[in-house]
Amino acid sequence: MSRVGILTGGGDCPGLNAVIRGVVRKASQNNTTVVGIKDGWKGLLQNIASDIAPDSVADILQRGGTILGTSRTNPYKRPEDVAKVIENYKKMKLDALVVIGGEDTLGVANKLAKENKGINIVAVPKTIDNDLNATDFTFGFNTAVEIATEAIDRLHTTAESHHRVMVVEVMGRHAGWITLYSGMAASANLILIPEIKMDIDEICASLKRRQASGKAYSIIAVSEGATFKEGQFATQEKALDSFGHIRLGGIGEMLAGEIEKRTKIETRYVVLGHIQRGGSPSSFDRVLSTRFGVKAMELVLEKRFGFMVSLRGTDVVAVPIEEGVGTLKTVDMALYDTAKIFFD
Ligand code: F6P
Repeated sequence: MSRVGILTGGGDCPGLNAVIRGVVRKASQNNTTVVGIKDGWKGLLQNIASDIAPDSVADILQRGGTILGTSRTNPYKRPEDVAKVIENYKKMKLDALVVIGGEDTLGVANKLAKENKGINIVAVPKTIDNDLNATDFTFGFNTAVEIATEAIDRLHTTAESHHRVMVVEVMGRHAGWITLYSGMAASANLILIPEIKMDIDEICASLKRRQASGKAYSIIAVSEGATFKEGQFATQEKALDSFGHIRLGGIGEMLAGEIEKRTKIETRYVVLGHIQRGGSPSSFDRVLSTRFGVKAMELVLEKRFGFMVSLRGTDVVAVPIEEGVGTLKTVDMALYDTAKIFFD
């Protein structure tokens, strides 16, 4: 292995730079040059890349975002784009490619690996959403949970002072992991996730029960992808991205409005949004992403292509990329049942 490409695709998340640092460090110890491809699959499509000097990654462990940039470009939207990606991989004289991404980016990696068109791929799972299969956790998730937990903690005092209901909208797409973990950690009074349809009557009844028992305020953590049970409210039509996903957001506002209308309790909403993805990774994520980066480069050196690094218990192991993509890893219902014990 003398030249290995690396790209980061999809939504950024804390820990991406730590993976890049791990790959570059391991590569340089094995006389391998790492080529940084700009903006995910877009850089491979447009042939935009440059060698990463080992010294240049020395101080990026703590830095959020990705030094390579990212995009949601999907080369499988047009067959000629897939051909271009393969052509540019050859032009860059790469022996292998490390792909760091979530469901969409790794979906492309999986297809390319399966089609066996001469691109040697090793994948690294990333997403704050923690919705990738075949790994216990993705890096970025822990940091997002820490940020959301602190935000919900802070909302308790203002909600209590004003005797209000506060609705906090949390990211995570169609999986409720960040909402469930942060909601539990910060003792939200209700946790509403995409895996369980929301019932506005039950939600309002719970808030009324709390009020009647003398608890003058409530905090609701709701996932951006949560939906109401059939017949209660229609979902809004929204534009799709190049992977066919709708841009989520707005459920917090809708829910807060409905609660205030029905219960007459003053209600506010907060959308945590991209704050959950910004800034420095937590120490857990720094260690996990460092281990993922080093392991990914080890797999490249061992020529174990078509594999993804994964956390299993406390071990970092290799699993076929296809095991990580295809279906979403949704919330563990046993964990949700534990959280429910604390609902009113
Ligand atoms: O997948 C990560 C994520 O942050 C989701 O939680 C969220 O729905 C989406 O990305 C937001 O995407 P964008 O950054 O394109 O607005």
